[in-house]
Amino acid sequence: MNKDMLIYPLFVQEGTGIHQEIPAMPGQYRYSPDKLCAAVDQIAGTGVRAILLFGIPQQKDETGTGAWAESGIVQKSVRLVKQEFPDMLVITDVCLCGYTSHGHCGVLDGEKVDNDKTLPLLAKTALSHAQAGADVVAPSDMMDGRVKAIRDMLDAQGCHDVPVMSYAVKYASSFYGPFRDAVGSAPAFGDRKTYQMDFHNAKEAVREALLDVDEGADMLIVKPALSYLDIVSSVSRHINIPVAAYSVSGEYSMIKAAAKAGYIDETAVAYESALSMIRAGADILITYYAKDLARWLNEGRIG
Ligand code: PBG
Repeated sequence: MNKDMLIYPLFVQEGTGIHQEIPAMPGQYRYSPDKLCAAVDQIAGTGVRAILLFGIPQQKDETGTGAWAESGIVQKSVRLVKQEFPDMLVITDVCLCGYTSHGHCGVLDGEKVDNDKTLPLLAKTALSHAQAGADVVAPSDMMDGRVKAIRDMLDAQGCHDVPVMSYAVKYASSFYGPFRDAVGSAPAFGDRKTYQMDFHNAKEAVREALLDVDEGADMLIVKPALSYLDIVSSVSRHINIPVAAYSVSGEYSMIKAAAKAGYIDETAVAYESALSMIRAGADILITYYAKDLARWLNEGRIG
C-alpha cells in the first residue's frame, strides 16, 4: 500500500459555517464551501493526493437540475479547491440521486427510472464538473450507456483530457446505508435494483466492466469492496485498465462501531481490510480511512 493509491471521499453541502459530523460515520463530516479548504489542507497534509466530491444541494427537484447547475455545490467546490490546491486531484461523483426529490439516480417515467432519458442529464452534469475544473469524473448512477454519453459530450466540448472513472460494477447493496443518511439520497419509493447489480450474480461483473471499457472508461470502480473481493479479483484479472475498490460507508461504520465498543483494534483491522482489497487486485482504494491510512503509513505503524 502506498499513499498514491488512496482516494478520500468528501461531502460538500450548500450553506455556510457547516462542519457537521455524520452521525452514522464518526470522523466524517459535511462541509460547506467556506469550510472546505481547511479540510482539504488537512487531507493534503497527510499526503493523500486525491479526493472524490459528493454534493448536497439546498433544493432537490424532479429531474435533479441542481446536478448540472453552473453554480451548483459541486461546481463551486471544485473551483475553490482547484484554486487553492492545484495539485490535489479532484474527482467528482456524477449522479442525480442527491439532487432528485424522489432520490432515484435517474429521471422517472411513472415509477420507473428511464435509462435513456437520463443519459443526456448525466452528460451535462459531467461536463459542468469538467468545466468547473474537475480532473476526473466518476459516474455512479449505473444507467446503461452513460460512459459513452459522457465521453462523447466531454470530447465534443473540448474536454478530451478529462478521464472517466466509471463505477462499472456497482451492486445494489445494503452497505450504502450510512452514505444515504449522509447525503439524504435514500429512494422515496422502491429500490435501486433495476439499475444497480444483483449480488447473487458474479459473472455479470466482467461483462459490465468490459462494456464500460468499450464505451471509453479510463478506470473502473468495483463497489462495495470488502464483501466483493472475488469480484475485485476477477475484474482486475480480465481488465487492463486501473481498477479501484470502493470501501463504502457501511464498511467504515462497522469498523468504527466495533472499535468504539472495544471489540477490535481499529488501526489493525482498517489496514488488514484495505490491504485485502489491494491483494485482490485493486490498484486504487476509495476509502473513508484514506487520511488515517496515510497518517499511519507516515508514522510507520502500518506498511
Ligand atoms: C450515488 C452513490 C452512492 C454511493 C456512492 N455514490 C449511494 C447509492 O448508490 O445509493 C455509496 C457510497 C458509500 O456508501 O460510501 N449513487
